Amino acid sequence: SKDGYELWLDYPRIESSALKTEVETLFSGIYFFGQEPTQEVIRKELQIAGNKMLGKDPVFTQERLDRTRLWLGTREELAQVLGLETQMKIRNLGPEGYWRGSIDFQGKSYYAIIGNQPVGILYGVFDWLKSIQTETFDPKSEKSDAPKVKLRMLNHWDNLDRTVERGYAGFSIWDWHKLPGYIDPRYIDYARANASLGINAVSLTNVNANARILTTDFMKKAKVLADLFRPYGIKVFLTARFSAPMEIGGLKTADPLDPDVIAFWKKKTEEMYSFIPDFGGFLVKANSEGQPGPHEYGRNHAEGANMLADALAPYGGIVIWRAFVYSHEIDEDRHKQANLEFEPLDGKFRDNVIIQVKNGAIDFMPREPFHPLFGAVKNTNLGMEFQITQEYLGQATQLVYLAPMWEETLRSKTYRPTPSSMVAGIIDGSDSGQKLTLMAGVSNIGTDRNWTGHLFGQANWYAFGRQAWNPYLNSEEIAQEWIKMTFGQNPEVLSKTKEIMLESREAAVNYMNPLGLHHIMGRSHHYGPAPWVEGGRADWTSLYYHRADSLGIGFDRTATGSNALGQYAHEISQVWSDPNQIPEKHLLWFHHLPWDFELKSGNTLWEGIGLHYDQGVKTAREMKSQWDSLQGQIDPERFSHVSQLLAIQVQEAEWWRNACLLYFQTFAKRPFPTEIEQPQ
Ligand code: GCU
Repeated sequence: SKDGYELWLDYPRIESSALKTEVETLFSGIYFFGQEPTQEVIRKELQIAGNKMLGKDPVFTQERLDRTRLWLGTREELAQVLGLETQMKIRNLGPEGYWRGSIDFQGKSYYAIIGNQPVGILYGVFDWLKSIQTETFDPKSEKSDAPKVKLRMLNHWDNLDRTVERGYAGFSIWDWHKLPGYIDPRYIDYARANASLGINAVSLTNVNANARILTTDFMKKAKVLADLFRPYGIKVFLTARFSAPMEIGGLKTADPLDPDVIAFWKKKTEEMYSFIPDFGGFLVKANSEGQPGPHEYGRNHAEGANMLADALAPYGGIVIWRAFVYSHEIDEDRHKQANLEFEPLDGKFRDNVIIQVKNGAIDFMPREPFHPLFGAVKNTNLGMEFQITQEYLGQATQLVYLAPMWEETLRSKTYRPTPSSMVAGIIDGSDSGQKLTLMAGVSNIGTDRNWTGHLFGQANWYAFGRQAWNPYLNSEEIAQEWIKMTFGQNPEVLSKTKEIMLESREAAVNYMNPLGLHHIMGRSHHYGPAPWVEGGRADWTSLYYHRADSLGIGFDRTATGSNALGQYAHEISQVWSDPNQIPEKHLLWFHHLPWDFELKSGNTLWEGIGLHYDQGVKTAREMKSQWDSLQGQIDPERFSHVSQLLAIQVQEAEWWRNACLLYFQTFAKRPFPTEIEQPQ
């Protein structure tokens, strides 16, 4: 049955007969070089794909060259075995790049997939299989590709008891209790899915870390996963709790300058590498939301991170240090906290430290302007952290395709370090010049049969992997690939599903957080509207962010307010500090404006808010009716799964609109625009 377990790797029977003949021929004679574990993995994948797409096993041979049609190997292997020196251009594609295309050899033509390293062949094979699944394979054209970002990483927020922080798809897929003895076959399918996208790193544990993961018992468990993932090109990282020296090391302090603490981490690291020789390194959340860190000892982030970096350096490991920091002492604007703490430390971090920065300065809101750290530091490695799990975007009940949101951030102009710089150019090193590059995504994966709870959550996992590989890809093309690989070639399914996906994010922004509103969701669970949340820590309330009063609404972050805007490049702060020039999507993020402020449409701000909320509901309804019109064209299981969830989404869109508008009306004291459905 179609329950979504196979993800985008279902490899359906090939429908087009021309393509089928072509592919059959190639599968009937595969000249396969090499015996490395990654090459074994490639062989297995071709077996799965061949059986599913053609109904038969591929034929591998090294004996009869004349019987072969498809060649798979590294550049070196091809050169040695066949004396071929042709495909030299692949040399520049780095360890993970690949080339595929036809090769003429002794008067005959073959199709070849070549990598500099075995993992490059693996990526090339997955790309080739994708071209077959999406019916775009052309044996005559050649293609080469290589990732633009070095570390393409999933961050699991998985606890050792298998609960998942902000996880909405069941429990953690890491069965710590049965490890190291029992290997769940799901680990392999997980690795295949990631490798098919080029994801090459995974942090297994929650950033709100438990020190026990660094005990010998857990290292043995993590080692099993690392061994399984290695052939798929995936490195394992773990989260390190800064106070671990006290919790599992028997020390009285975790001061990063204390010799015993330094020795503890050196020993731990050494032990880690004895189990996992290619261990990636530590991911650290320190001095944020109550997590321990160097500040307890009067040390700064650089002193904390560098101590760990020095322990890892001899083994080639790295420290990923998060910039999502805000302390107990609330700054006048939480927005500013990361820049306040990290800008003064620019240039002080070791080369094997990378600062992982969320896309925006608050917390994965449906829309945020890009984080002002991008562009603000010049001598510090910066990596991107996106959230794939939909903490603030309807969790696993709503269909929200996130790639357009990430694309928006990646293409935001930073004007620094160069006047033409954008976020993507900092992340991939092309503008920033950094060599260590990283894009991380907080995973939405769990034990649910379909992995992600909502079937369309798979599209977000997929899109994240594609954008991490190439941050310049466009979200429409990614959607198109995913739809074809998930639902097949039906053009009506393709066009309607694509439309649904592409409008889903803006719909969510409209019915949740239009015009720059943010952080007005329910307290702690973060589900549903609650703009009325007050009390307790100011920056965990809603009022702190929307600041509605009888005069108007919005957070003044210009020079007359918190001046968070001053943390951006001059080109931005100048334009955005004018409410008539700032893009309206960010209006209330940076400005507190009167209810009668005139929008570009000519409507007042109050009317505009109402119209946006209402538009969000309308789009949600359209998404539902579009989907329902596909009944009969999609298998009943997946059709009904999505249809039922879309019905909930429509209700929730109405809930958001009604709750927010009725609440804000108590301040605005104005009637709703007549053209909208009146909230009640
Ligand atoms: C959000 C989320 C927390 C998480 C934190 C983080 O605030 O709600 O659960 O721990 O982000 O990124 O560290």
